Amino acid sequence: MFATSSPSRPIDHSQIRPAVRSLQSQLVEWRRHLHQRPELSFREQLTAAFVAHKLQAWGIEHQTGIAQTGIVAVIPGRQPGPVLAIRADMDALPIQEENQVPYRSCHDGVMHACGHDGHVAIALGTALYLAEHAAEFAGTVKIIFQPAEEGPGGAKPMIEAGVLEHPHVDAIIGLHLWNNLPLGTVGVRSGALMAAVEAFRCKIFGKGGHGAMPHQTVDSIVVGAQIVSALQSIVARNVNPIDSAVVTVGEFQSGTASNVIADTADLSGTVRYFNPAYELFFAQRIEQVIAGICQSYGASYKLDYWRLYPAVINDDGMTELVRSVAATVVEPPVGIVPECQTMGGEDMSFFLQAVPGCYFFLGSANPEKALAYPHHHPRFDFDETVLGLGVEIFLRCIEKFGNLAKGQAVDEIPRTITKRSGSKEAEG
Ligand code: NI
Repeated sequence: MFATSSPSRPIDHSQIRPAVRSLQSQLVEWRRHLHQRPELSFREQLTAAFVAHKLQAWGIEHQTGIAQTGIVAVIPGRQPGPVLAIRADMDALPIQEENQVPYRSCHDGVMHACGHDGHVAIALGTALYLAEHAAEFAGTVKIIFQPAEEGPGGAKPMIEAGVLEHPHVDAIIGLHLWNNLPLGTVGVRSGALMAAVEAFRCKIFGKGGHGAMPHQTVDSIVVGAQIVSALQSIVARNVNPIDSAVVTVGEFQSGTASNVIADTADLSGTVRYFNPAYELFFAQRIEQVIAGICQSYGASYKLDYWRLYPAVINDDGMTELVRSVAATVVEPPVGIVPECQTMGGEDMSFFLQAVPGCYFFLGSANPEKALAYPHHHPRFDFDETVLGLGVEIFLRCIEKFGNLAKGQAVDEIPRTITKRSGSKEAEG
């Protein structure tokens, strides 16, 4: 309805798909170029240079060097309107690629094993389409190319550097290619999509000695084992069973010989939860458990605790926008998985704390082509058909966001979208 009453020329839906299809070979080319040149967190120099070079060639205004290697591009439509940001993360992982493909990683021990190469290609395809069709959309699109999602996190420093201002971003969307879903399936939900991520490292100080004379020692392995067991009771007995949470001890190192009682033991672990009410809870409870056990055994400890990423919480209105757009792009049998959720974490959460938005999964697995290894696996790869789908979903979100928000106060945008989504009129 807004589209037809608007003086701007609405994006012609029948044109988007063919235009995106004609981009497909370039999307694959960019993705493979990046796949061959993976870079670790905050070292995405080649990646950033590649992105900046493309933006420059397409005449897109952009700023580089934000939070070290981040880039933000600004693409104004011809009609005034709200500002929508799209976020793509750029970093790779310290994994040796085992795929034998022509585009396998040229960087020893570094691999795009999470699909961020695809995220950059999709964002570039979106940017290129918008630059070529500025007359067809209202509002402004900011594209945020973010470093270091895999840690320590590039979203927060980018926000601190002001990427959500000048012009002020009204809402944000982002996607993660997802091999846990079949190709083309969209996984999205309102509220918590991904978990908060916290980590801890604990050193237990006992008193070493002869394995045959334990009465002269404080056995740090026994103390550590008690701690590992007791930590399991936090989720089982302290967290409200309605809420989901995980406490995993992933490392336990101690000892040097079978007949020596170890002086010290090192533990490290990760904590996950959705409900922000637990923001301070785990750090406190884990320390209580460790302190209590150490005291009862006569050991001491040093605990480091990090609250890394908050939970990814999607805005109701923006989720409805993504869902309604996805419904027009992906067709059965794949369709939309409405209550998709994972205990994995993402620093997209910082953007979603700052502005309303929606992060979603786009299924990229294709077992028939042997493309179904999980993320972070040395043989991870995805079906590149998904790249065009990602661009199409972004473009339709942009079109719908610009049109729907026209003439509305910015703070009404999410509510307005919620009200109108699902109605045929709102589809324009
Ligand atoms: Ni990832």
